[in-house]
Amino acid sequence: QDKIIIVLVGSGSVGKSCTALRYIQSKFVEDYDPTIEESYRKMVIVDQIATMLEVIDTAGQEEYRSVRDKNLKIGDGFLVVYSIISTESFLQISSLHQAISQIKSSKNFPTVTTGNKLDLEKQREVPKKDGEKIAEKFSSSFIEISAKTGQFVNDAFEELIRKIRKF
Ligand code: GTP
Ligand code: MG
Repeated sequence: QDKIIIVLVGSGSVGKSCTALRYIQSKFVEDYDPTIEESYRKMVIVDQIATMLEVIDTAGQEEYRSVRDKNLKIGDGFLVVYSIISTESFLQISSLHQAISQIKSSKNFPTVTTGNKLDLEKQREVPKKDGEKIAEKFSSSFIEISAKTGQFVNDAFEELIRKIRKF
């Protein structure tokens, strides 16, 4: 397809907005401003193929759940994000995958499970192995990234775009 919708999901403050901004606008902000709903459009070229990409950034905060669920329905693929410095955010990963499959009425949809804040290795609470395991359980790809330094952010989006194209 020539247009792809990617939806970012994950607990509050794991860095979804920073990850979207890093990928779309190559920038990073330190301030935390909780999202209600945001979306970005960008033409991207992955494997020499141009795609019109829409990235929808959802709310981690519970009170905006209904806005999030509307976006789960229209997503072609999902970046499921936790923070490697927050076990609590990691424990939400299963329910996020479950929420998507419920709304999609399918267990089969393209996802990349992403552990963000890789630059804060010293404060790490979630072992990389645990991330790999949960991703495997949900047939998801797995990658640790840093929205702050930009490390592996493009790889995460490109992996998801490839999965969506093959889906
Ligand atoms: P909600 O919109 O409430 O769901 O939060 P969010 O997941 O969009 O988090 P956001 O991107 O707003 O980032 C939350 C805080 O974490 C901000 O203060 C960011 O600067 C910080 N942050 C995000 N990504 C990183 C990262 O990779 N490394 C570090 N060190 N800080 C980060
Ligand atoms: Mg946000």
